[in-house]
Amino acid sequence: MRLFRRKDDRRKRIRVPIVVKIFLGFMVAMIFMLLSNLLILHRMVLRDIVVEVGKSVHDVAREEKILETISQIKKLYISYDSALKQKHKDAETKKFVAKTPKIIFQKLSEIRSSLDSIDIVQNNDSIYLELQTSIDNLASILQKKSNLSAWNRHLDNLSHHIKMLISAENEHVSHLVERSEQISKNSVRFGILLTLGMLFLSTITALIIAGRIARPIANLRRATHYARLGKYNQRVPFMSHDEIADLTADFNAMMEALGKLEKMKAMFLSSITHDLKSPLYRVKLGLENLQDEIHGKLTKEQKHAVDNLLADVETLSRLIYDILDIQKMEDGKFELHRTRTDLAEFVRNTVKKHSISFADKGVGLKLRMNVPARTSVLIDTKQIERVFENLLSNALKFTPAGGMVTVSADFRNNLIYFSVQDNGAGIPADELDKIFDKFFRATTGKNVRGTGLGLAIAKQIITAHGGRIWAESEIAGGTTFNFVIPSE
Ligand SMILES: Nc1ncnc2c1ncn2[C@@H]1O[C@H](COP(=O)(O)OP(=O)(O)OP(=O)(O)O)[C@@H](O)[C@H]1O
Ligand SMILES: [Mg+2]
Repeated sequence: MRLFRRKDDRRKRIRVPIVVKIFLGFMVAMIFMLLSNLLILHRMVLRDIVVEVGKSVHDVAREEKILETISQIKKLYISYDSALKQKHKDAETKKFVAKTPKIIFQKLSEIRSSLDSIDIVQNNDSIYLELQTSIDNLASILQKKSNLSAWNRHLDNLSHHIKMLISAENEHVSHLVERSEQISKNSVRFGILLTLGMLFLSTITALIIAGRIARPIANLRRATHYARLGKYNQRVPFMSHDEIADLTADFNAMMEALGKLEKMKAMFLSSITHDLKSPLYRVKLGLENLQDEIHGKLTKEQKHAVDNLLADVETLSRLIYDILDIQKMEDGKFELHRTRTDLAEFVRNTVKKHSISFADKGVGLKLRMNVPARTSVLIDTKQIERVFENLLSNALKFTPAGGMVTVSADFRNNLIYFSVQDNGAGIPADELDKIFDKFFRATTGKNVRGTGLGLAIAKQIITAHGGRIWAESEIAGGTTFNFVIPSE
């Protein structure tokens, strides 16, 4: 994936260090928690109810006191009435008759002022009038001649009303208790929902902040991965203005330097190999002339030495051509020349070409073909042959005598599946993804000759065909190279 390039615009932004970001996130979560607590407490306010219950309890106490006063008045009036009715009153009775109305008046006015401080009476005009009228009636009976039955009737009426007030107050209190229970229940439900909501918001905030910290790190990680594959043209965008942005700037500068170095290395390598090509060709020609004894007869030892020199020159010139080719491929100057080919015949011929070297080493070579007859495919035969050449030469190099190499070809859904499987040395798992890198050689094959270019070239060829190549291996269990390419 190509990373989006963004200019270093950090100077325009406010620098927020990572520790501040984490602290801010923590603060936001705390504020959410505080808010939720305040809201729950606000919902749970029972003060008004408690005040109301308190008032009602007070009023009931006052009303009970009134009832008590009424019963005292009742008793007092009975005694007063009987004293009044006595024909011959002694001094004591006279005194009692003289002062009792005053005491009763006093008690009636106490009842009146108690009623004035009871809310339910003050707030209800009809009750207020009823009670005041009863008291007025009692007062007027007291002023006039004694009338016990009328007095008792009005007093009972007053007492009845007060009892009704007490039961109304009690009902009000139980209603208030019910309401407070309901409020508590609702508050618990509200508290749970609010806490969940705040938890959700805190999680989202934490995720956003974590994402803001993690995203640039992920970008850096991705770019590092590309750098490891030798792609130095990647630049990491600046997404923040913190320590990661500083790291990003250093990373981008490092990538630029590496890119320049890589270019210089490639140019150096290709100019050297280019310059080596002609002298090497002349050495090869000279050695071939010597081998053909154009300059005179050679002794057996001389012939052997020339043969060895020619083999070395061959290896050297293959290396030079490989280096030049891979450079061309990486620069995108490599072109395929596809031709229509009979797939089965192509595979058979390619494998046949290697059978002698396999027989020489004593390694078996098997072909397993699952290709319908006359399957014609459009491929660059020379290049695919080159891939096979490397895979088979690798299999032969890394498989001991007595081993077995199996080549498979399969054709399904317009895709050509090839594989080269051996039961040789194998490749360590941690090196498996590096074997397609230029010049990489696995630790299991360090004492076998090679330059580490074969698989890099094979990968370029397969990729140019629009295909894919991969390897599966097990130490001492063997290696399988698979590649798949579209048939056209
Ligand atoms: N069949 C295999 N079994 C075990 N190791 C292998 C096999 N094929 C490749 N390798 C490992 O992968 C490395 C890279 O292979 P590659 O073909 O690119 O290079 P090479 O064979 O060493 O040199 P070159 O192909 O350029 O002559 C090899 O050096 C070897 O360590
Ligand atoms: Mg090789």
